[in-house]
Amino acid sequence: GTVSAEEAERTFIAIKPDGVQRGLIADIIARFERKGYKLVAVKILVPTKEFAGKHYAEHEGRPFFEGLTDFLSSGPVLAMVWEGQGVVTYGRKMIGATKPLESAPGTIRGDFGIQVGRNIIHGSDSPDSAKKEIGLWFTPEDLVSYGLDIHKWVY
Ligand code: TYD
Ligand code: MG
Repeated sequence: GTVSAEEAERTFIAIKPDGVQRGLIADIIARFERKGYKLVAVKILVPTKEFAGKHYAEHEGRPFFEGLTDFLSSGPVLAMVWEGQGVVTYGRKMIGATKPLESAPGTIRGDFGIQVGRNIIHGSDSPDSAKKEIGLWFTPEDLVSYGLDIHKWVY
């Protein structure tokens, strides 16, 4: 089908400091790439604790908030924007349930994690969250628009 309309959906994905330290960047990117999704923005950075708090603002006041924002700001995070049909919902499926011991084998958290506080990766939970998170982590100029020849075989 026509590529642009089907590709328009975007999600924010971040490999947390544990995923970076454990050498999982390539494996995780490969999963999204092989599915047929398109990487349109990427950077590596150490977020401040304040920035981590903004990213997780919805959880402010919950008992795990302090530990969570300490953890996210404890080392490099690989921040990405992935594009493609169904990428918000399907990206969450590929990531797996929040608690790695409840994530199915074959999912990223199921394959690599044990503890909820070390669950490897973040993915936006809705198109609205995706918009907010992409806007927090990236500027519009960071997002690259390009075609992929494989997409005539994906879509
Ligand atoms: P949440 O948004 O509920 O999960 P998800 O990452 O799957 O969207 O929670 C955000 C992060 O907070 C979660 O990835 C890990 C951490 N967390 C805890 O440490 N303990 C908890 O009980 C929960 C629910 C989350
Ligand atoms: Mg969440």
